[in-house]
Amino acid sequence: MGTWLDNGVFYEIYPQSFNDTNNDGIGDIPGIIEKLDYIQELGCNALWLNPCFVSPFGDAGYDVADYCQVAPRYGTNDDLVRLFDACHERGMHVLLDLVPGHTSIEHPWFKESCKAAPNECTGRYVWNDNVWAPMEVKGISGVLRGISERNGAVGVNFFSFQPALNYGFAEITEPWQSAVDSPEALATRQAMKDVMAFWLERGVDGFRVDMAGSLVKNDPGQEATIALWQDMRAFLDEKYPEAVLISEWGEPDKTIRAGFHMDFLLQFGTSHYMDLFRRPEHSTAEPHPFFSREGKGDASEFVATYKRNLELTNGRGLMCIPSGNHDMERMRRYLDPDEMKMAFAFIMSMPGCPFVYYGDEIGMRHLDVTSVEGGYMRTGARSPMQWDDSANHGFSGAAADDLYIPEDPAADAPTVAAEMADEHSLWHEVQKLIALRQATPALGVTAGIEFVYCEKDAYPLVYLRTAGDERVLVALNPAGRPVEIPCAFEAKSVLYTLGDAPELAGGTLRMPPASAAFFAVK
Ligand code: NOJ
Repeated sequence: MGTWLDNGVFYEIYPQSFNDTNNDGIGDIPGIIEKLDYIQELGCNALWLNPCFVSPFGDAGYDVADYCQVAPRYGTNDDLVRLFDACHERGMHVLLDLVPGHTSIEHPWFKESCKAAPNECTGRYVWNDNVWAPMEVKGISGVLRGISERNGAVGVNFFSFQPALNYGFAEITEPWQSAVDSPEALATRQAMKDVMAFWLERGVDGFRVDMAGSLVKNDPGQEATIALWQDMRAFLDEKYPEAVLISEWGEPDKTIRAGFHMDFLLQFGTSHYMDLFRRPEHSTAEPHPFFSREGKGDASEFVATYKRNLELTNGRGLMCIPSGNHDMERMRRYLDPDEMKMAFAFIMSMPGCPFVYYGDEIGMRHLDVTSVEGGYMRTGARSPMQWDDSANHGFSGAAADDLYIPEDPAADAPTVAAEMADEHSLWHEVQKLIALRQATPALGVTAGIEFVYCEKDAYPLVYLRTAGDERVLVALNPAGRPVEIPCAFEAKSVLYTLGDAPELAGGTLRMPPASAAFFAVK
């Protein structure tokens, strides 16, 4: 790609919960600026901020009421620009969260669109023409009816208060459905280009795009959605060629064609990401993650899917592997901090940009807390960052009862201060792994990968990373038992080990229980 993304290691910040500087119990943008040194010391050089715009916060800000205005609880637009500048001064970059598929019902566009008299927002959302009629449309999860003077029901994308913006229909089956190139669908597209331009003009480096595959409705193969993003990309290439787009989509063969730089490995769908560190979403099955010491996991389906995606994209299917995010349970619910070291050895040695979810670097726990702002089970992964052992773990000077989400009440709740003071901590392992990744081109974002050993229900996991003449063999044995496999590589040196040192010699790889090694090989 030849951009800063080639060395990108991201840190995802849920702004509500990172650092509160005005003591109102909720994090803010000045709080993020205050912690940039910390993020840089860890080794991350880019940020993804969850939506920080004006919103009624029914879905924690994924219900936007004004795309161009920072929510007062986080600060001002000037604060956000100061954050961009402060990052750029440090050689860091920032992605905002673009939510192009839906807005809040409080967005002025939506209020206009509810009116009986035709106006410029009449076609901005997916409305039918009869309030009593059902709406059976792929990509629409329900409708809102009885809330408007106009005669119609409006489709929603996610929660009931997130009406779907109208980018048109690939297959038109009802008279009220717009074509993808209808004036109203093109007007929505232009409005979203204007939103991107607004923030790019102010210095943002790009966007993580929410539900990027959801825009065109009745689009089974998603070709029309791909074409739409190609057009968005062409717009960016003309005016803001450096702008980065990373998709929440989970199908790299589509997203690379659509013009995204990278796609996320998702916790749902076909990726088998959850086999590695957790258990499938909404499952009540006994969890057996591959990275647990119990050694009952299986990474083979994950690897098979990963390989298929690489083939489908001629090796360009760069997938970002997150340690977690604001939508899934914390990794710590399934793995202890030592097991998490191994998980990070994997994350930091795979292609694509790795994403560290705030607090995962210290092993923050998933909390059992009441839902806040539409979080439901996700709320437990959104609790305030634990900085030190002062009041509210240094997150906020507010009264504990006024915090956005309660802090981890455990006496042994991990903190940044304690983790940084202990040279054997998870924090130091993550820091070491990021530094090694940045110093080793073969471990980088675009370097090659070939899987060497990954058998069903078996350990270890072994893969080769390559860049030019540099070849690094990554061998991971999370299981609490020794394993041995035939392995023809010849080690030149050992770049990294975790646990007792594995041996690669005489055509055999011998790995002690819970051990990892990165070998430079011939
Ligand atoms: C995905 C986001 O990550 C999630 O938090 C949000 O609730 C949905 N999209 C709806 O925008």
